[in-house]
Amino acid sequence: MLGSCLGVSGQDDRGHWEWIVAGRVIAMTWAIGLFVANAAAAAPVCAPGQPEMPSMFLPRSEPAEIILEITWLVFGICAVIFVIMEGLIIWAIIRYRQRRDEGDSGEPPQIYGSNPIEFAWTVIPLLIVFILFLVSARGIFEIDKQEPPPGSLEVTVVGHRWWWEFDYGELGFVTANELHLPLTKDGEAQSVYLTLESADVLHSFWVPQLAGKKDVVPGRTNHLWLKPRQMGTYVGQCAEYCGNQHANMLITVYVHSEADFDRWVANQQLDAAQDDSVAAGHDLFMQTACINCHTIRGTVADGTFAPDLTHLMSRSVLGAGAAANTPDRLREWVWDPQNIKPGCDMPSMKLSRHETDLICAYLETLK
Ligand code: CUA
Repeated sequence: MLGSCLGVSGQDDRGHWEWIVAGRVIAMTWAIGLFVANAAAAAPVCAPGQPEMPSMFLPRSEPAEIILEITWLVFGICAVIFVIMEGLIIWAIIRYRQRRDEGDSGEPPQIYGSNPIEFAWTVIPLLIVFILFLVSARGIFEIDKQEPPPGSLEVTVVGHRWWWEFDYGELGFVTANELHLPLTKDGEAQSVYLTLESADVLHSFWVPQLAGKKDVVPGRTNHLWLKPRQMGTYVGQCAEYCGNQHANMLITVYVHSEADFDRWVANQQLDAAQDDSVAAGHDLFMQTACINCHTIRGTVADGTFAPDLTHLMSRSVLGAGAAANTPDRLREWVWDPQNIKPGCDMPSMKLSRHETDLICAYLETLK
């Protein structure tokens, strides 16, 4: 029955060619429509102040723009080929269908060795592939910079299971999970040069609106170049499966005005706040194993296995996106991170509720 509907079996199929044509037209419309709808769905629908949809169809930085241009070119060429080929197939189905009054006239005439046809279907695809190769190669050379462009802001990105470390090098501070960048430097567009390293396993750094995906490989140093075009908040994700909390490796990139970025940097460069009203929490923190993994600049805490907490309150999320950085969630996190992010390296410190409150009160002063 199915065979006869699809027109692939014998004599009974006469008159079913309409179904084949309809099927092909529907499939063709669906295939092209799906791609275009995907691009259209990227239109910003989020509330003001919220990050846009992390779509490669909404590029906000130079490498992402180059990638989208190549994508549309490849899509355009493929769509034209697809429509022409499907059109010819549909035309042939209709024009050369077996008519009811014709009977079975056997095989159609067999043609061998047409040089012009052989030549055409060899040369045309070769030219198309050559054009796609040239355009892709040019894009790759533009994007893949092995040296920082002059005047770049350089940041070292270290992928950890399961969070991101951002080391601002010369600026003298380290932060986590939230990358802050300036749109301009002295009024000129600021390019950014990221050095990508891994502390453990394979990760992949991907913020679709800013650049393509780049793997973060243990024992190897990769680079990624960005040149943001527009202020805003852009989200991305680790894009290489790296263990059970792979999904909680959120990257948030804030592209600021020059003045806002300078203010943010000035704050990050300060040592941690010292507030006598939370001395009990401070002292307790410094007596626990917290200090083996976390750094709080200006204190004895100088661990490097876990995120630098010097300005914890300047960040919007905990656990690389596992929870919002609110007082309640911070308490739950310090009480037992395994409830929020099972499998992460931070254990419950087996503090009492009172001790948890003291430590969180201290952490909340780290603005
Ligand atoms: Cu890191 Cu997936």
